[in-house]
Parts: sequence; C-alpha cells; structure tokens
Amino acid sequence: MVVRPFPYCGGVPQQSSNHCHLRGDALLPTRPRDLRRSCIKRAEVRPTDSWNHSEFRVFALSDLHTDYRENMKWVECLSASKHRKDVLIVAGDVAETYQNFYLTMALLKEKFGHVFFTPGNHDLWCRREGEGYHDSLEKLNKLLGACRGLGVETQPLVINGLGIIPLLSWYHESFDKEINITGYRIPPLEMACKDYHACKWPEELSRRDESLSLHFDAMNQGNEEKIKMIQTTCSHMITFSHFVPRQELCPEKRMLFYPNLPKVIGSDSLEDRIRSIHGTEGSQYACHVFGHTHFVWDATLDGIRYVQSPLAYPRERKRRMNGGESWLPFCIYADGEFTDQLSPCFWSDYYAANPRTPHDTQLAPWVARFYKQTTIAS
Ligand SMILES: [Fe+2]
Ligand SMILES: [Fe+2]
Repeated sequence: MVVRPFPYCGGVPQQSSNHCHLRGDALLPTRPRDLRRSCIKRAEVRPTDSWNHSEFRVFALSDLHTDYRENMKWVECLSASKHRKDVLIVAGDVAETYQNFYLTMALLKEKFGHVFFTPGNHDLWCRREGEGYHDSLEKLNKLLGACRGLGVETQPLVINGLGIIPLLSWYHESFDKEINITGYRIPPLEMACKDYHACKWPEELSRRDESLSLHFDAMNQGNEEKIKMIQTTCSHMITFSHFVPRQELCPEKRMLFYPNLPKVIGSDSLEDRIRSIHGTEGSQYACHVFGHTHFVWDATLDGIRYVQSPLAYPRERKRRMNGGESWLPFCIYADGEFTDQLSPCFWSDYYAANPRTPHDTQLAPWVARFYKQTTIAS
C-alpha cells in the first residue's frame, strides 16, 4: 500500500460470494462492520500435505512488507520442507530496507525450489537509506543484483513447460480514466502518497507524466527474445507485475478510503505489454499476477485471468475476513493446470455480480465519514 494515513483498503474485509448468496446491490453493505456479520468463513483450504509433490506447484504472493515484524515472522514460519519443488512468484513490495529485502528473499529461496521477483514501489524507497543511493534506479539495480546472488529469478524462464515472465512497471496518473470525486476535501497525491517523498528519480523522469511508467516498461524490451521463445514452446504462461494493469482491477473511487488511489496504482503500457504476450483475446492458459492495492482479487477480463494475493499490513489482515496467514501464498498452478478461482474475493466477487458505475460519485458511507464536504459558493 502506498498511501497513508488514509486506509483506502484496509477497512473492507474479504467476503465469499459462494456462501453469502447475495445478489446485486445487496452485495454492497452500508458499513464495513456489516460485511463481517453477513459472511461465512471461507471454505477450508486443502492442506499442503495432501498435494502430490511429483508435480510442482506455483504460488503467488505480493506485498510482503516484512519491515513489519509480524510479516517477517510469517515468512520465517513458512514450511522449510513442503515447497522444495515449488515455485513462488513474489509480485513486489517485499520491504523498504535493503537489509529486510535481502533477509526475506534469502528465507524464501531456502524454502522454495524457485523464487521469482519483480519490484514494487516500497522496494525502491530510499527514505531510510537515502544517503546510500543516488536514486531509486540505483536501488533497483542493487536489488536485482541481490536476486542474482541469491538465485532469485527476475528474468523470463521456462520451468517444466510453464513460462513465467516478470514484468517491470510503474504507475502514471493518467491511468485513471474514471470521473473524479468532487465536493470533498480529499488530500492531494503529494500529501497522501509516500512514494512522492520516499522515491528519488533522475530529473528526466517525472511523476506528473508517463515518463516513469514508460521507462520501466522499456526495461522489459530486453527480454523480447526470451518471451518469443516462451510463446512458441509453452502452453501455459504466467506474467506478473507489482502494479495494476487495468482500472477494473481496483474498486471505484467512491468505495476507496483514498478516492484518488487509481492515480497511483497502474500503467496502460503494462496492460499493452501483457496483451502482447498473452494475445489481445487472452486464453484459458493465460494468467497475470499483480499486487500493490492490497485487495485480494481473482477475475478474468477479456480472456486473461488476473490474480492478486497480498499478505498486506498486519492491521489490514486483522480487518480482512480470513486474514491471510493460513491460506497464503495462494496456489495458482498445480498438476499442469491453473487452479480454481481464489475465494472469497470480496471486491472481484462484487464486480462479477455488479457493473462499474463510476459516474456515481457519492462516497460510500464508510468513506464519507473521513471527509468533510467543501462548501459550494452560491
Ligand atoms: Fe504494498
Ligand atoms: Fe505497492
């Protein structure tokens, strides 16, 4: 998560569409507390012991944020024996400090057969180590170097016929195409988004246009030959990024504790690149893993399955139904196939049953109480 102190996603727990049997607007409660009451616990996740280890599995995880002691503990407590043949995809926001990043990735590499990584915004913060880096690009290179040393994959690779493709990305404000919320005192991005102060960029890269987003996307071009090889040899392909490729993968502004969030989450060129890999129409063998917003998500849009399974902050897990300690990381591929949809997934379940109506700009009750209305001049 990038924005404080406005808890834009933490107050809404995940909910099971399988068990709640709610339809249409009934899915939209008036208070987050009502969500908790109306839900039944998620179905029991199959214990990892019962899996056949002759086939490898692929697990997805994002937003580990191991600068929080509880989250580092969670990583330490992952089984040291159950995942030796498995693959873990880490979709960014591992830790703010290099020390915690390195420790986390080393722990994960001890536990999993293969670990893939692409960086998130928190990984590139220079706030605590500002003097140590010229800018966030220098820190990026240091993190990628650490991954090479640890044997963590940051490049496309085929594993037993499955193509796994990490994508570098950054967000741009023009990614947000939906109407703004007006009439409330909503803090500007500079105040709400810590990236604006914790990341450092060369002069030619600006937060105010698409230059950062295009710069990160261009770094993927060096992998085009590897990607072509994967396209011609692999049936199943998993791409992954930290940032969000489509606005439909985030709740509408009126639902968000920070309604301007869509301006700091995603990239149009990321979606273009995903489509250049999986095809404009996608396929049942196409999956994209992402992170950043801390919303658990599993939805298929235009033929591509998009999955987010974030560990998130400890306080968010406490508010979120079914937390995440016991069912993360989420298995997305086993026995040569993609697994069933992640459930419960409150917001993607909601949008599976309800169309987006961004022209409705009245803040949801659980959001409105945070904001004062501005007075309208007569
Ligand atoms: Fe995050
Ligand atoms: Fe992030």
